[in-house]
Formats: sequence, C-alpha cells, structure tokens
Amino acid sequence: MSLKKVHNEQPKEFKFSAENLKKAEDILKKYPEKNKKSAVMPFLYLAQKQNDNWIPLAAMKYIANFLSMPYIAVYEVATFYSMYNLAPVGKHFIQVCTTTPCLIRGADKIVKLCKEKISSKENVISELGNCSWMEVECLGACVSAPMIQINDDYYEDLDEKSVKEIFDSIIKDKPLKPGSYRGRSNTSPEKNKASNGEKHA
Ligand code: FES
Repeated sequence: MSLKKVHNEQPKEFKFSAENLKKAEDILKKYPEKNKKSAVMPFLYLAQKQNDNWIPLAAMKYIANFLSMPYIAVYEVATFYSMYNLAPVGKHFIQVCTTTPCLIRGADKIVKLCKEKISSKENVISELGNCSWMEVECLGACVSAPMIQINDDYYEDLDEKSVKEIFDSIIKDKPLKPGSYRGRSNTSPEKNKASNGEKHA
C-alpha cells in the first residue's frame, strides 16, 4: 500500500460506537473531572480497536474534544508510543522484537522471513492485503526469545520452522495458537522440569 493511498484513507469523521462510548464513560469515572485528560491513552486504544487497529487523525481530534484538551497534545501522545498505529496495518499485524535478547536468539531470521513471506518492506501491507509487520523494541518476553506479537497475542520460543508455519497460517486467515513453540508452560523450564531435574508435580 503506497503512502499516498494511506494518506487518502484518512476518514473525515470519527466518533465512538455506542459500545465504546459506554466504555469511555466508564474510563472517565476513574479520573477526577479536572484530570480527565489522563484518559487520553485508554481512549486512543479504544479508537484504535474500533478502527481496524489504527488511529486516524479524525479520532485524535474527536478525543481532544471529548477530553477538552488541545489536539496537538493528543497527537503528541499518539506519536510518542509505538503501540499506537497511525496508518492502516494488516488484519494480522506482526510486531517483531529485535532488541538484544531476541536478536542474539535469531530475530534477524524472523525479519528476513517477514520480508520474504509478508511484505518486502516494513509497514507496507502484504499483496494479499491481510498482513503487515514492523520491528519493535523489547516486548517484555525476553525469557522466551525470540518472540513476535501478532495483534494481541505473543508467539514465543520461535525458530525458522515455527515462524514459517505461523506466517502461513495467518496468510490463510487461520492463525495458529499463540504461546511457546518449545512446549513450555508460560516461562517454566522445558518439559516442565524443576531445577533438580525432576518434573514439577
Ligand atoms: S528482547 Fe525481545 S522480548 Fe525482550
């Protein structure tokens, strides 16, 4: 998808759905009226979820009005954090951690596979139109390096074979299960072994 196309895809208007309006009102109850602008981050998340995982400029203006804060202040928050997408992403949006622990465990090979199987360029939607990818900093699952995030799910303990299978599954719109691909339960030792070599009960 070209930048020009992305630019043209900015909707002129945005407002919360009835369901998200209710959620927004519930979020506001957590803050004193004078500090309601503190709700800007959860509001941006709501807007992103509602709009196919990206936040259009119209949504930032809507949120600014809603929270009685300057539009530029909403824009500053949205552009500071990498978890807010400001242009369309694939239905299956892959974030590849390339910080040191993942990198030394093979994240560069995952990036190579992204280029081969998803899209030759970062942040450009795949030819089939359902996937995109980007490199990100540590996602906090270093103990299961290398790992990727697809939409809200973590896929961990990866290697080239498992990444190929995962990518094939999302290309077909039938995502494989998230979690460890070395059979670990959460971050427990492999085969559920305790430090003395015996199995946990
Ligand atoms: S370095 Fe990859 S999750 Fe922390």
